[in-house]
Amino acid sequence: MNPNKALWEKGDFTEIAGLMRQSGEAVVKSLGITPPLRVLDLGCGDGTTAVPLARMGAEVVGIDIATNLVAAGNKRTAELGLTRLTFQEGDACNLQGVGDHSFDLTLTVFGAMFAPKPFDVAREMVRVTRPGGRIVMGNWIPNDPTSFVSQLLKISSAFTPPPPEGFISPMTWGVESHIVERFGQAGVPKEKISTAKDTFRFISPDKGPAKVVESLRRFYGPTMNAYGAAQKNGKVEELHQQLVELAKSQNQSNNGGTSIPATFLRVTVCL
Ligand SMILES: C[S@@+](CC[C@H](N)C(=O)[O-])C[C@H]1O[C@@H](n2cnc3c(N)ncnc32)[C@H](O)[C@@H]1O
Repeated sequence: MNPNKALWEKGDFTEIAGLMRQSGEAVVKSLGITPPLRVLDLGCGDGTTAVPLARMGAEVVGIDIATNLVAAGNKRTAELGLTRLTFQEGDACNLQGVGDHSFDLTLTVFGAMFAPKPFDVAREMVRVTRPGGRIVMGNWIPNDPTSFVSQLLKISSAFTPPPPEGFISPMTWGVESHIVERFGQAGVPKEKISTAKDTFRFISPDKGPAKVVESLRRFYGPTMNAYGAAQKNGKVEELHQQLVELAKSQNQSNNGGTSIPATFLRVTVCL
């Protein structure tokens, strides 16, 4: 089994996506799209950004490596009666079957950054987006204390065995020099790439930060793996305490819920 696929099929990411809907919609609104527009949402999960894109009148294809998330996305589409949105399985490293220049916009919000071959990912995103179109990525930023998920993954990595040789950290997509190098190899000059810091919010009106960490522990593949590894070393309590401390320290809700801001890097590539 492809370990990248296995990681994201583990647990149930839809439980975490529930915390991301509001900011997902805000990201889509900020894109200033005007239909007709064909959009690829890459690493789309169950449609946090694909659904609002379709509601704004775009024709959207969501591609994700996880079979369960594609099924969850198609179920949402049917329930919401959206006719311009389909989800399909695919790997951002190799978008075989997707034609050259098929999309006006390729969007990937914390999605393609998790695919293991970043140079292939950049090449594929450029290939399927039409000349004159746009690629927009949302990427977590390494070593940024305000980038919640990068901190979460950093703590987790201290409890897990070292990755296999050749592993490229997804967080490198949050570093400008890597972004320029990857799109450069795909034929895109530096002047066509811009980056800006932005804020995403993880929101739950009724779950406090400790409960959010419980959800990550039960449903979010990377955190599930960290707890599994910590269990073997007798370090579960230590890991749990550090993650709860992180979530509590970043939480800005004062009514028993959660509102955690998380800085991310918005990358825009104009082709
Ligand atoms: C953190 S989730 C983000 C999901 C969604 N974009 C959102 O904002 O809710 C990362 C997503 O990337 C997908 N993913 C990871 N590696 C992938 C790959 N190689 N190709 C396509 N999707 C991938 C995962 O299955 C998962 O749905």
